[in-house]
Order: sequence, then structure tokens, then C-alpha cells
Amino acid sequence: MIRNHQPSPFNPGYGRKPAVFGGHRQAISELSAVFETLDFGENQSVLVSGLRGAGKTAMLSLLQDHAMGHGWLVISDDASRGLMDRVMKSTIPRIRNALSEPAHNRLSSFSIGQFGVSWEQAGAAREAAPLLRHDLKALSDALEGRGGLLITIDEVSSGRTRLRELSRFALEIQHALTSGANIMVVFAGIQVDLNELLKHEHNTFLRRSRRLDFRRLTPDETRYVIAETTSLGGRSVAPAALDHLTSISQGYPYLIQLVGDYAWRRTPDAPVISIEDADYALERGIKAVQDRVISRVYDDLSERDKDFLRAMAQDEGRTRIADLKARMDAYDQYVQVYKRRLIDTGYVQSAGHGYVEFSLPYLDQYIKSLIDEEARGSRPPADPWGDFPPPRI
Ligand SMILES: Nc1ncnc2c1ncn2[C@@H]1O[C@H](COP(=O)(O)OP(=O)(O)OP(=O)(O)O)[C@@H](O)[C@H]1O
Ligand SMILES: [Mg+2]
Repeated sequence: MIRNHQPSPFNPGYGRKPAVFGGHRQAISELSAVFETLDFGENQSVLVSGLRGAGKTAMLSLLQDHAMGHGWLVISDDASRGLMDRVMKSTIPRIRNALSEPAHNRLSSFSIGQFGVSWEQAGAAREAAPLLRHDLKALSDALEGRGGLLITIDEVSSGRTRLRELSRFALEIQHALTSGANIMVVFAGIQVDLNELLKHEHNTFLRRSRRLDFRRLTPDETRYVIAETTSLGGRSVAPAALDHLTSISQGYPYLIQLVGDYAWRRTPDAPVISIEDADYALERGIKAVQDRVISRVYDDLSERDKDFLRAMAQDEGRTRIADLKARMDAYDQYVQVYKRRLIDTGYVQSAGHGYVEFSLPYLDQYIKSLIDEEARGSRPPADPWGDFPPPRI
């Protein structure tokens, strides 16, 4: 007998689109309004920052969908080595080939300048170093005010090559904007990196961007995502199970998808997700989020940041700043600097005068387990092939 097996509508993983996108309503509606009206206001350049797994890439995909729905052209890439080349040699030609006939013709007719001339030389490499700014302006003009260009750049970070490349790229966009092109550019990256990046003087353009900071969803937004996603998948969730899944996820987008998925898969053919299903998701969800997300979040930090967090993890609950000073054997000023940094990046929060506590759920448990492991002395696991060495010939 074939049972009524419903595939899970939850979608855990990096860069995976959620079936239901929770939160950020105002930002989404303001940015989407630009796709309709071309009235940019403060939304010409946007910088999305946040912790890993907070939904930055998902936001970029959502914006891309909205933009394309309004007839915009989309350029999306990562801020990795070769960005400029990829965009100019592969993305822009692809977009150009996919343009509607009239837009395509308009593009060619502008082309006394850089764009068309180089393109009309079929197959030939472009000469005279074409500039991205001209391509962007030409594409924008070809849309004749019926749309614009959305450029999304993910994984922006502060590594040195990336920094140089990104500054060059941003400069081209800035020139295209100055010449009146309809462009919205959205950058995304993890916050610890962006804070570093913004310190560099070359990045005025990025510094002036509208900042969206992604942290956790609110409890209401979280409940909405879980309930709506479940219902899209054709099932419902018992009220107690919904409460439980909401508390386990702590509003952390990656974890919302993970626990929803585990709970769903325990009884995929039952009509309702039960409290037992939610319970089943608890341990697995937390284990998985620690392995896949929290460990990476922790690794993003500098050694000194880690020392600070490890010193905090000695307490249950909040930590006295005075104790931290003693544990780290550090001056007050030094401790204050690290405290500020970690608060800014969403790992830690103030907890009353003279106290701090972890603000990222499950980070303290993760660090405690690391400390325990070290205390036990991490012996390398026995090699199961030890008794079967490879024969020599
Ligand atoms: N607003 C949201 N509502 C519900 N689920 C979301 C939301 N945003 C992201 N998710 C889910 O969370 C997970 C992580 O999202 P995403 O990859 O976008 O995070 P990220 O911030 O880009 O992480 P990283 O910094 O590591 O690149 C995905 O499974 C995605 O479906
Ligand atoms: Mg991402």
C-alpha cells in the first residue's frame, strides 16, 4: 500500500530558500517598492549583515525574485576572486543574450560607446579595456525606465584580495549611478567581517549604504514561519508542538528550518505534527545547529574574542565583568573593547549593570562542550584499519 507520504516543506541548509520567509517585512516592502516605482530614496545601495544562518542569502534570493517579477535584470555573484571578470565576461553577456528583442536592439543602438562596439565583434575578445560602468549604464538605458538592474553580491568579507576587488567593483557601480543608471546594489556578509571591512577608507560607498542587520526573528514571526510552512506542506501543527518548536528554534532562521524538518520527518504521513514530533526534533536540531552553524559562527572570531567567550562560558547564566577581568587577566579598558565588539556582532548582550550574557542561543553550550572535550584530553580516535596495514609489493 502506498501511504500518503508528504515531502517536507522545510528547507534547512545554507543558501536554501525558505518556503515561507519570516520577518523583515518593512525592509522587503520598501525595497520591493523601488522595483515598481524606480524611486530609490535611500535604497540605492544596501548592506545586509548578520550572523551565519540568519538568512542573508535567502534575503538576496527573495529580492532577486521580486526584481525579476517587475522586469528588472539581475546580476548576482559572490565577492570572491575574479568577481569583475565573471560579471563582465560571463554574466553580462548572458543577460544581454536573454534580453527581449526591442531591448536588445536598443542596447545595440547605444553602442557607439563601449558596449555595443565590443559586442558586435562576434567572438572577438573585447579590446580597449571596457569598463563595467558603461555596460551597467547601457543595460539600464536599454530598459528605458521600465525596470532597472539589481546587483547582489554575497559573501562580502574583509580578506585582502576580496577587499581590493570589491572596492574596484563598488567604484564602477558608483560611476554608473552617477551617470544616472537605475541600479540597486545589495551586499551581504557576516557582521564580524563587515565591521572590519567598513574600517577601510576605500569603502566609502559601502559605508554609506543602508544597513540591514539580520539577527533572530521574533517569537511571532517564528510561529508564523513554522505554522505556515507546515500548512503549505499539507499538514498542521498542534498548538503545544508549535510552542515547543518555537522555543527550540529561538528564532534562529537556520534552526527554524532544521527543527521543522526533523519534526515533520518523524511522522510524515500523520495529519498533525505532535508534541512528540517536536520533542524528537529538540536534541537532533540542537546538535545539528551546533555542528553546522554555531561552530562556524565561533570559528569566525579572533582568538581574543574566543578567549572572552570562553571566560564567560565558565558561568551558568550571566557573567560579571569584574570576574572576566580576573579570568582573562586583562585591564578594564581591554575587556570593554571586546565586550563592545561582541555586543555589536550579536554574540553577547548586556545583562544589567556590570554583567554580560550570551545572546546567541546554544553558543554557550557549544563552548562548554569544547572546554569539556579539552579537559578530557581529546585523544585521536583509534584507527579501525590499524590491524590491517596495506601490504607492500
Ligand atoms: N526569513 C527567514 N524565514 C525563514 N527561514 C529562513 C529565513 N531566512 C533564512 N531562512 C532559512 O535559514 C537557513 C539559512 O539561511 P541563509 O543561507 O540565507 O543564511 P545566511 O545568513 O546567508 O548564512 P551565511 O552567513 O552562512 O551565508 C536556510 O535554510 C533558509 O531557508
Ligand atoms: Mg549566505
